[in-house]
Amino acid sequence: MTSTRGMAVTGLGTALPPTVLTNADLEQTLDTSDAWITERTGIRERRVDGSTGELAVQAARAALADAGVEAESVDLLILATETPDALMPATSASVAGELGLRCGSFDLNAACAGFTYGLVIAERLVAGGLDRILLVGSDSMWSITDHDDRNTAVLFGDGAGALVLEATADDSAGVLGWDAGTDGTLGSVLACDIGGTIRMDGQTVFKKAVRVVVESCAAALEKAKLAGDDVDVFAPHQANVRIIDASARRLGIPGDRCAVVLDRTGNTSAGSIPLALADARERGRLHDGAIVLVSGFGAGMTWASAVLRWASQPIP
Ligand code: UT7
Repeated sequence: MTSTRGMAVTGLGTALPPTVLTNADLEQTLDTSDAWITERTGIRERRVDGSTGELAVQAARAALADAGVEAESVDLLILATETPDALMPATSASVAGELGLRCGSFDLNAACAGFTYGLVIAERLVAGGLDRILLVGSDSMWSITDHDDRNTAVLFGDGAGALVLEATADDSAGVLGWDAGTDGTLGSVLACDIGGTIRMDGQTVFKKAVRVVVESCAAALEKAKLAGDDVDVFAPHQANVRIIDASARRLGIPGDRCAVVLDRTGNTSAGSIPLALADARERGRLHDGAIVLVSGFGAGMTWASAVLRWASQPIP
């Protein structure tokens, strides 16, 4: 995992659609209750009726403005999503067009783990010579959710987050260790056919999620030669606060170091980790030098974790 160039996160942006759907709203249409949803998931409200491409453009524009860089200077766009606007062209192509990018672009589908896979790929490409990468995680999960199915309708929402990732002379910055895995035998526990809606065996996903998040984060930390207690910010996939709490406890990460936004967003799949990172930054927790652990898991089942030393300055 050695490189002569580090990777800095010079810009961060997010986007949520304006329509808010609260637990009280869901009580009107489903056999559920605010108390059940809050206790079992930690979710209080989610945003719905967004489109993956529009949210991605909005988050990317905010990240570019935050970094103070022009769209034409971006070397590559990676869009992590499992809800593309069309089968083709890739949503990244329309997003690139809207933004006025002049570089290559591709969609990356690793479900809710997509953003973390994108981060690891970006780091290797920066080490290999690219100067500036736009990494976006965007999903419109509400569009593939059966709104009458209480098993899934209470969980998912729409949202996006984007990072501008740039080469930095500080070679200790960026990804220090990572881990990824897939168990394709569990494909049916969380699935959605083309044109269909999400089917999920929640309990199986829950149990597997806690196990793989803990094992994968431990493997990434070991490669970085760090322990749970060294983590300043744990920004895991935002699916269920009980998964986050159980994972953090087993990893020895104090609860107050966990970034949690799912109470306001629900599960936004590839959007969830950058949304959590943005929240941590707003709270003043993402200072240069901070050790940040991200971990995503989802349909596949597939998962990925990465340990970063945070830096916000590019090569001068
Ligand atoms: O990106 C990855 C995506 N997915 C996940 O991460 C999902 C992981 N799984 C979970 O988060 C949890 O398993 C759920 C939140 C989906 C379910 O929570 P649970 O604690 O595993 O509940 P359960 O499935 O064991 O159901 C407990 C009870 C059942 O009733 P009975 O049999 O005890 O009478 C369910 O029918 O809760 C009932 N139930 C509900 N009640 C009110 C299930 N869904 C609901 C609901 N409202 N929305």
